[in-house]
Amino acid sequence: MRYVSMGEVPAKRHTQVRDEDGRLLVEEVMGYEGFSGNESILYHLRSPCDVAEVGAFSAIALEEWIPDAHVHRLTETASLAPAGDPVFGRRVLLFNDDVEIAICKPAHELGAFYRNGEGDEVLFVHEGSGVVETIFGTLPYARHDYVVIPRGTTYRVRMDEGPQTWLTFHTPGEIETPNRYRNRYGQLLEHAPYSQRDFHPPAALRTHRDAGEHELIVRARRGHQRFVLHHHPFDVAGWDGYVYPYRFNIHDYEPKSGRLHQPPTVHQTFQGPNFVICSFCPRELDWDPLAVALPYHHSNLQSEELIYYVDGEFGSRAGVGPGAMTLHPSGLPHGPQPGLVERSLGARRTDELAVMCDTFRPLRLTTLARELDDPRYALSWHEAARAPAG
Ligand SMILES: [Fe+2]
Repeated sequence: MRYVSMGEVPAKRHTQVRDEDGRLLVEEVMGYEGFSGNESILYHLRSPCDVAEVGAFSAIALEEWIPDAHVHRLTETASLAPAGDPVFGRRVLLFNDDVEIAICKPAHELGAFYRNGEGDEVLFVHEGSGVVETIFGTLPYARHDYVVIPRGTTYRVRMDEGPQTWLTFHTPGEIETPNRYRNRYGQLLEHAPYSQRDFHPPAALRTHRDAGEHELIVRARRGHQRFVLHHHPFDVAGWDGYVYPYRFNIHDYEPKSGRLHQPPTVHQTFQGPNFVICSFCPRELDWDPLAVALPYHHSNLQSEELIYYVDGEFGSRAGVGPGAMTLHPSGLPHGPQPGLVERSLGARRTDELAVMCDTFRPLRLTTLARELDDPRYALSWHEAARAPAG
């Protein structure tokens, strides 16, 4: 990330700064890895520790489904009805100790402010638009944006009219751009599939001075802690640094093609601990006359591969549409279904749009994944091989 400064910050750190009413502002350093990672410094109207009431703590309980069979899976999420709010409406389908992956179709806004105190979040906006109001300022979001929210960011989502469908990620680690795209100073390199200009910090900072009762829910220790504040939590008059929420639109990802097939590695967008997030975007395909543009069969010996289909036609599989998720777990090779490679020969373009998450440790499933599971998928290569050519 690049350095950003919004509002009023003093010329020197750790010096006196007052607001227009003469009030001494409260400085807060918000940083990763003690004082060794990226940080931002925020200037509050009052102590960020100021809570008026301590409410209940409720544990997060994920209902695990341990299937009888270890097979490739197709999960259809398109049929899920809108339910819940932008936080508690996240319906987890897969998880491990590195990442939780959920679908969220919020039906209404959350009446409280929220802060994830134990993980970074990514919201991929399949459908919908609105504004993420944060302590760092307001961040408008729209269709096909990745919204990245660092831990510790107090926020609430204000949604526009119309359907909202998000693919969400929570990780106890950090969401970052891949190391290999950055130089030793952190700047994105020329060969990276995006530049700093494609990453958008909050658009405006508004300092709320009003009193009034506000609920704050903090995710921590695998649960949610509720507090009541007697002031508005967005009381920051200025901040600067490298930690802040931002958005990146998937269509600003510059896809790479080659004379021959390029591996998913060239589609990598973010990295987390033991997982990656990749963007499959519409692009020209391989130009060698003998090229096989579809992916070769592969056994990812140490990883699980989850693809969420967003839009367009996905060349390597039949029968998947927007909202479908395929999971190709470790131990089993996977590849295009029979007949599709032959049919694709000579194709020079794909309009597929999908988000992939590869994890290097096994993913566990929830009971919601069981409800949405299509057991026919495991046999679909066999069925396709038996089908008459056409
Ligand atoms: Fe794959």
